[in-house]
Amino acid sequence: MGKQMAEYEKQHIAKMRQLAPECMVLLKRGGDFPLEGPGEVALYGNGARCTIKGGTGSGDVNARFYVTAEEGLEKAGFTVTTKGWMDGYDRIRAEAKDAFIRDIKRRAKEAHVLAVVMGMGAVMPEPDYELPLDGQGDMAIYVLSRICGEGNDRQMTEGDLKLTRTEVRDILACNEKYAHFLLVLNVGSAVDLTPVSEVKNILLLSQLGVVTGDALADVILGRAVPSGKLSSTWAKAEDIAQISDFGDSDETRYREGIYVGYRYYGSDGKAPVYPFGFGLGYTDFAFDAEGLKVSGCAVSVQAKVKNTGAFPGKETLQLYVTAPWSTLDHPYLELAAFHKTSALKPGAEETCTLSFDLAELASFDAGSASYVLEEGRYVLRLGTSSADAKAVYVLELPERVTVCERTHIGGTPDFEDWKPEHTWEKEDLSGLEVTKLSVSELRDAFAKEVRASCAGLPATSRSASAAPSGKATDYVKKLPEEQLVRLVIGNYGEGGILSVIGEASTKVAGAAGETYGKLPEVPPLVMADGPAGLRLSRQFVRTKKGPKSVGSPLPAGMEDLLPGIAVKWMNLRSRAPKGEVLDQYCTAIPIGTALAQSWNPELIEACGDVVGAEMERFGIDLWLAPAINIHRHPLCGRNFEYCSEDPLLSGTVGAAITRGVQRHPGRLVTIKHFCANNQEFNRYQNDSIVSERALREIYLRSFSVCLREGNPGTLMTSYNLLNGTHTSERSDLLRTFLREEMGWDGLIMTDWIIGNMNNPALKNRTAHAAPTIKAGNELFMPGSKKDAQQVLDALHGTHASYHLTREEIEVCAARVADTVWKLKKEQ
Ligand code: BGC
Repeated sequence: MGKQMAEYEKQHIAKMRQLAPECMVLLKRGGDFPLEGPGEVALYGNGARCTIKGGTGSGDVNARFYVTAEEGLEKAGFTVTTKGWMDGYDRIRAEAKDAFIRDIKRRAKEAHVLAVVMGMGAVMPEPDYELPLDGQGDMAIYVLSRICGEGNDRQMTEGDLKLTRTEVRDILACNEKYAHFLLVLNVGSAVDLTPVSEVKNILLLSQLGVVTGDALADVILGRAVPSGKLSSTWAKAEDIAQISDFGDSDETRYREGIYVGYRYYGSDGKAPVYPFGFGLGYTDFAFDAEGLKVSGCAVSVQAKVKNTGAFPGKETLQLYVTAPWSTLDHPYLELAAFHKTSALKPGAEETCTLSFDLAELASFDAGSASYVLEEGRYVLRLGTSSADAKAVYVLELPERVTVCERTHIGGTPDFEDWKPEHTWEKEDLSGLEVTKLSVSELRDAFAKEVRASCAGLPATSRSASAAPSGKATDYVKKLPEEQLVRLVIGNYGEGGILSVIGEASTKVAGAAGETYGKLPEVPPLVMADGPAGLRLSRQFVRTKKGPKSVGSPLPAGMEDLLPGIAVKWMNLRSRAPKGEVLDQYCTAIPIGTALAQSWNPELIEACGDVVGAEMERFGIDLWLAPAINIHRHPLCGRNFEYCSEDPLLSGTVGAAITRGVQRHPGRLVTIKHFCANNQEFNRYQNDSIVSERALREIYLRSFSVCLREGNPGTLMTSYNLLNGTHTSERSDLLRTFLREEMGWDGLIMTDWIIGNMNNPALKNRTAHAAPTIKAGNELFMPGSKKDAQQVLDALHGTHASYHLTREEIEVCAARVADTVWKLKKEQ
């Protein structure tokens, strides 16, 4: 480890320690916690010592250190009485890992693919074992952890989504044996908790970056209060299995349509184990609706929240709407607004307002290609989770109203979306105040400006024309062909694989990529990954050829999967040259799902501010985050990086972190992965088959909320295809949706498409550079000589499949130049 911690690190870590408890969700409260003070603790579970701070892959942040559960409890004054158990577990885990790696290598050999491709993000299932639960004292904590990451999905098996027999046995035994027992879930997304449902105290710690163990100790000792709420439903494994396609190598049919997460469970009458929006604290709250205001399309509900318990806490009120079934079907609940209170002492009250624009409730009618509000009763329901939302007001719309008209985008699937039985229409709503909506007022309001995400950016930030500036257009016109093309292809180096993993930037060690840098007028834009902080090399040496990372540039775990000779070669290459070793320590912040669990945009913005400050310090222009894909299926291997199953919550989180980062002049976020990227297995060649309604109301909506509320500077398309064509090659998504409908003029780039990813045995190919540029995707990342050549061939008319005009390339190149100039001017 480098020198002593710098002042900025101390401040950022202190900030995270203050904020992280709000991201934890107390799932069960038996009254044993918080403790009055530290004492003996019997600490068990696979996450006790090997605590997970975040997932693997590009989302893994190379922090200086992070605090495990064991360390956090010891620092707080606890005496851990189970060191022998933990040493025993370490040995069992090491053996299981060796066997796991050997198995991946064997399977890869049989399948003729690289082990590193097959094993990327693969989850090692937890082994079964017998270790005596002999820790002393009357208090035990069992930390159950799970890890996953890009490249592979989770499994429905024991040791991943399900608990192993060992875990179930030991958790239940601890629950019996110890007077005070807490099950701590150090996971990035759901596990099936049904076999341990009798446990009295369950805390979803989540994965909170650098302060994970410290924040746990703070909450156990009542120095901080867990006030998070689930951002996605936790269901039984059997119920998840009914959710429709997942895991096919070629095609994924989103047959459930708009019924994702609680929209499905709520409508199908199935009770999840823990519902969306659920979370306890150390206290109780009572709430009441106190008034409704409707003005044009603006609706607000006033409510009062009171802390009725004996401990301080924060409550999150959630306002859901049940829309009428007319020609279109609707889920039982859709989140329309939410509000988190400030910290309330016992007995304290807070009045809050939950507001939304009626246009946000509009459904996409594929028949008329328009967003509409259908006639009938809109029931507003207020609650502290999706399971306890009670009807408080009714809005009545006498006629169907069109919010805005659109053209079709996204293609058409080969199936009809699933719909539930509509069983809730007979609900007795007598006694509730009914407010008649004025059709003419609504029409007027929608004709002026629709203040909703389906209408795009607000008039003030809407780009008048999606075209790049005159200055940039003139500049690129004069560029020779080779250089023009280099501007739209990432800055590839001569280092082969190393120039894409770990050493992709000539400016900053460990950055993920950059734009072409040899034109003196257009310096390169440097990009680094996220979303759980800034991903850079911890240490580097400056050389004449640029910064050189100290240590292996490879993501953790990748070395195990490479052939020995390749590792030797890379280690040789990555040996740091002589010179002063400089530090680049970044703060690991809570994972995306944990941030969403806070339901607190101010907190999330503060995390973005920390990232933005570190971007300034280390010279990063674009942060390749936040990732705001929808939690469509609990097994998606990247769910921990994403925020929620609900598009409003996802988009709000994305917008908050964007504001925090972009508060720093000359620093921009890159929201990703646009769109319908909800499976990691064969992600480069998988086709997401989605109806336009589901696409618009669920998968595009998290992006449109984020675009509207945060105005992010850049966006990354996803690897997958959408209804037969790669998202990166779809002009309807890029030009029609982002430019025309949203009015957004930021830079669009691809995800990291590398030639040798293509598996010819699969039905679909990976995305290509020429059709990508043709569709209006301005930057093909990370770029290679082959990609540049393809664009040149398409320009010269010598490519068999693709044709590009010079003007098409110029528009893309000019946007790159514009983005560089805008940022460099602000910095
Ligand atoms: C991931 C992106 C990431 C990029 C650069 C890709 O494999 O999907 O999320 O930003 O690599 O590291």
